Amino acid sequence: MLAAREHWGSRFGFIMATAGSAIGLGNIWRFPYMAGENGGSAFILIYLAVVVTFGISLVMAEMVLGRVTQRNPVGAFRALGGRGWALAGGLGVLTGFVILSFYVVVAGWTLAYIVFMAGNQLPTADPAVLGRHFSGFVGRTFSPLFAATIFMGLTAWIVAGGVGKGIERASKVLMPLLFVLLLVLVARSVTLPGADPGLAFLLTPDFSRVTIDTIISATAQAFFSLSIGMGVMITYGSYLPRNVNIPRSTLIIVLLDVGVAVLAALMVLPAVFAVGLDPSAGPGLTFITLPAVFASMPFGNLFGTLFFALLAIAALTSAVSILEPMIAWAVDEHGIGRGAATLAASLVCLLLAIPASLSFGPLSDTTLAGKTFFDWMDFLANNVMLPLGGLLVASFVGWRWAKPACTHLTNDGTLRLPWLTAWIWLLRVGAPVAIVALVWQAVSTP
Ligand code: PFF
Repeated sequence: MLAAREHWGSRFGFIMATAGSAIGLGNIWRFPYMAGENGGSAFILIYLAVVVTFGISLVMAEMVLGRVTQRNPVGAFRALGGRGWALAGGLGVLTGFVILSFYVVVAGWTLAYIVFMAGNQLPTADPAVLGRHFSGFVGRTFSPLFAATIFMGLTAWIVAGGVGKGIERASKVLMPLLFVLLLVLVARSVTLPGADPGLAFLLTPDFSRVTIDTIISATAQAFFSLSIGMGVMITYGSYLPRNVNIPRSTLIIVLLDVGVAVLAALMVLPAVFAVGLDPSAGPGLTFITLPAVFASMPFGNLFGTLFFALLAIAALTSAVSILEPMIAWAVDEHGIGRGAATLAASLVCLLLAIPASLSFGPLSDTTLAGKTFFDWMDFLANNVMLPLGGLLVASFVGWRWAKPACTHLTNDGTLRLPWLTAWIWLLRVGAPVAIVALVWQAVSTP
């Protein structure tokens, strides 16, 4: 006999946990620099279009799979599609290991930067000096790994606490805190003298910078940001009681995710313009350009510390959700205890995090086809594994399981959803076409 499955204690808790999964480094670290590099609001508009079509469709598809089966991704696919489809769930669990191993490395940097900011160790507004500080730090052998280990430990501690007492309880505190911090920082940024060009950059779309690559990056970013394609939404959906309105909850979660991404861009870009720095600085925007911004504003250390705390909180609730499907799989399918499973999975991720972290230092010259170990993990996860996972979910629900999916999504006909046919066709054709284009483009560009 299986033990009764634990469920979310409240709808608020479920929404905070799931929004916590979606809102992460993807929104606050990646989205602003991608918007900065890709023509500001033109990129944002394309991103929004992808989110409201494929993004929402896939989140609902995953959630309904989880809620109906009350299982982890492997068990969910097996229950509905048989052994062959269980591999689709297996791919999701595997993707989790890959993502978490490089995610904890970047998350570890955010912990270190809280300390640097609070300890006034970056008192210069010169991006060249800050750039050297950043590459010096991430290039070290032990300190970044130590930070990643602390971060992994925090993640494991929350997950080991269980669904209600661990994940839900932490999310209910951390997410509201994140929203408050974000609003304080946006207010600070947009009122800086000289912020207007940044606001104009964000509000006037420059479509001349949009290429097919922009559209593809916006699609990949939407997948990563909404946590689709690796079974997180299946797993979180499996802790839902039957009567929850999935479409409405999905809408709230997606709005929170998109809202935070846009607010993060509003927080970062006007500030960058205000001090005359380059908005297209790429991944270094957060760790190099922003400390320069903080150094040139009153109480910069305080705001800088708050900013990196915000980033760490966002990363933590996401990392928790990346770990949970593996744990649910070990617990449901193999009867392993939650604590033991969490410990084992975390150790495996930390082991993989070692070469990921060393990719910025001792292993920076060890490359394959020009990519370091970190680059490979990032590339495989974002451009191949997550899209493939999304493709499998879309095809399964769209082609094999469309009728029951509609019945379950409408809570056995009690919800009136006039767009059900559009949903199914987006899953059948729209999402697969977009995903195949994405993967093809990714693997064919060197
Ligand atoms: N959505 C998270 C972010 O934007 O940082 C990252 C993420 C979480 C990706 C969970 C994938 C996932 F399954």
